[in-house]
Amino acid sequence: MSIIKLFKGLIHHFKKEKRPTKKTIQPVIIPRSEHTISRNVISPNALKVLYRLHNANYSAYLVGGCVRDLLLGFRPKDFDIATSARPEEVRQLFKNSRLIGKRFRLAHIVFGKEIIEVATFRTHHHENANEKDARMVKGMIVRDNVYGDIEDDATRRDFTINSLYYNIADFSVVDYTKGMDDLKHKQLRMIGDPEKRYHEDPVRLLRAIRFAGKLSLIISPETEEPILRLSYLLQQVSPARLFQEVLKFFREGASLATFKLLQKYHLFAQLFPETQHALHQQDTFHFIEKALHDADLRLKQDKTISPAFLFSVFLWRPIVQASKKAEDAGHPPYVAFEKSIRTVLHAQHARLTIPRLMTQLIREICLLQLQFTYRHDSKPYRLLSHPRFRAAYDLLLLRAECGEPIRELADWWIQFYSNEHAREEMVKTISKEHIHKKSRRKNRRRNRFRNHSVLNNSEPESNI
Ligand code: CTP
Repeated sequence: MSIIKLFKGLIHHFKKEKRPTKKTIQPVIIPRSEHTISRNVISPNALKVLYRLHNANYSAYLVGGCVRDLLLGFRPKDFDIATSARPEEVRQLFKNSRLIGKRFRLAHIVFGKEIIEVATFRTHHHENANEKDARMVKGMIVRDNVYGDIEDDATRRDFTINSLYYNIADFSVVDYTKGMDDLKHKQLRMIGDPEKRYHEDPVRLLRAIRFAGKLSLIISPETEEPILRLSYLLQQVSPARLFQEVLKFFREGASLATFKLLQKYHLFAQLFPETQHALHQQDTFHFIEKALHDADLRLKQDKTISPAFLFSVFLWRPIVQASKKAEDAGHPPYVAFEKSIRTVLHAQHARLTIPRLMTQLIREICLLQLQFTYRHDSKPYRLLSHPRFRAAYDLLLLRAECGEPIRELADWWIQFYSNEHAREEMVKTISKEHIHKKSRRKNRRRNRFRNHSVLNNSEPESNI
């Protein structure tokens, strides 16, 4: 062995020695008779996975959001499992599994549309871990694959309420972090030093807000205190990950409460800087609040929501602002508007990577706002059959309700959309007016030409 190798070995040895010995925490075990989680409310596929791991002599627990939601009486959106089995061992037990992830190596067990995520117990990141398994950049975890036991796994999680384990061996709930108490007191508390934990993964700032909004929790003072101060950390998170987090805000039925919290903690400006800027405009707050309130209501009624519509709402006022500026700079209205959509979407991309397909939908929803002003001949029928009509129509009504001077136009469309029998007559009347206007415009132009005045652009007037 070379001297260098020997030297490296010695350093490694001393580093290991220096690592503090683990303090063992006595978990609180809540027996089946003292909690509300019944196997009837657990996905049969998750139960199958738990039992197979258990029968193969691995420990296996439901963990995270599903245990939290079950205890609060909500239907979990998915079921995650933590186990002592290594990813390769899980892979061997389940033919229908695949290993995924670099940052976190996980097994996905696939049952048709349902995927059960199985993760091996992991420990906290520590500096002397192998670079291949764990990596920190500027205090932020970029790879985290150091395995440990259930206690390690419990204490490395973000919030205490997310660190409860449902044990398939005896159906008890295992609690290392007093999560059950916090759940009872509706309190959101970070495990460990909140400031350090936010630095490790700044997305936790958004997760705190999301859980507080969705589950009506009070953020504990020490967990709350750094949020405002550290909001800038979101700039270090990839725009693709931020987009996924924002989608969760929309999809959980508490987007209005979450929006208000994002404002309170100055996090919204990090996600939607252009929209934040437009919030100073009269009624923009109300405009966004109304859209989010309606989206939450739809989810409560088991209806779907359209994230593209909500993004269009967020970006609408910045687009209109930019468009006015472009018009002032001499661009014709349509060109100015089209250009502004592109500019605002481009700026938004720097913060959130909105996928191309959704960008296209947002573009269409916004552009259709111009088309609503053309109501003669076959135009309104064509608009009605446009795949994005409904979302664009909803935006039109929202604009009318929140201070834009388009009430007459919106009422016309409400009538046209809802009363099939009135359509023909409505279009006839508008078409006559259109012919009238056109000839008046022609005459005006002819007169102006005669008077040698400057020709105006021929773009139709818009209501934007
Ligand atoms: N987790 C964490 N830190 C993160 C992300 C996740 O500690 N930055 C842990 C938490 O224990 C969390 C679990 O991983 O409960 C699963 O994360 P995820 O599925 O993203 O969220 P859930 O907590 O399950 O919440 P929801 O299902 O509402 O998204």
